[in-house]
Amino acid sequence: MSSLNNVKDYDTLVKEIMECKKCRLHKSRTNPVPGEGPIKANVMVVGEAPGRKEDEQGRPFVGPAGQLLTRLLELAGLKRSEVYITNVVKCRPPGNRDPREDEIETCLPYLLKQIELIKPKVIIAVGRHAARTLYTLASLKWYSMSKQHGEVREAMIASVKVKIIPTYHPAAALYKPPIREILEKDFRGPIAEAIRSIKHSSSRPMRKQLSLFDFMSESRSNSSSNK
Ligand code: URA
Ligand code: SF4
Repeated sequence: MSSLNNVKDYDTLVKEIMECKKCRLHKSRTNPVPGEGPIKANVMVVGEAPGRKEDEQGRPFVGPAGQLLTRLLELAGLKRSEVYITNVVKCRPPGNRDPREDEIETCLPYLLKQIELIKPKVIIAVGRHAARTLYTLASLKWYSMSKQHGEVREAMIASVKVKIIPTYHPAAALYKPPIREILEKDFRGPIAEAIRSIKHSSSRPMRKQLSLFDFMSESRSNSSSNK
């Protein structure tokens, strides 16, 4: 599919989410939060549900947990602006309660469509709801975050081959320093490693984008090593 069609399909999807009334969460929301980021992102972050700030602004991870997420992504060598960020449910549950099973199921086609259009190579699932949902979609067995955080699993979701990495939710780390340490280790370790491996595997076409200066210094060092 051409990228122009992708943009059109993505815009249609966002419009659908903005008008969605398929589950009870539409009644209490201020704004739906479809997600944001480049539609060609290699990396997707999937959280649980919008919180108060996200509901006010219609953007994902803009509150305190979001600020921590931005710093964690940097530990893995990623800028927030190069990552597509979304949630399992697109509307805020009242009082930040956990999303219910039927709400997750009703909202799931939107996440599947996002994965199908964006085709991320890595999905970081933050928090147990996101992790359990993505593992279920990938037919993988979910036990618990304490057992499975930081594990990199290859899977197929919506006909897209992805590496799924579950980790704790940054909101939990805000008031539990030991969780923050684990999160930082996951982002510096297995998550950074998975990102490096996808950057390497796409490094060939990137060479076309060398600047003239880069090209000249590369070609100089290549020719001197040939001597
Ligand atoms: N927590 C989430 O899971 N998602 C957000 O967008 C914000 C906080
Ligand atoms: Fe629709 Fe999802 Fe919002 Fe429910 S949570 S109203 S299914 S967009």
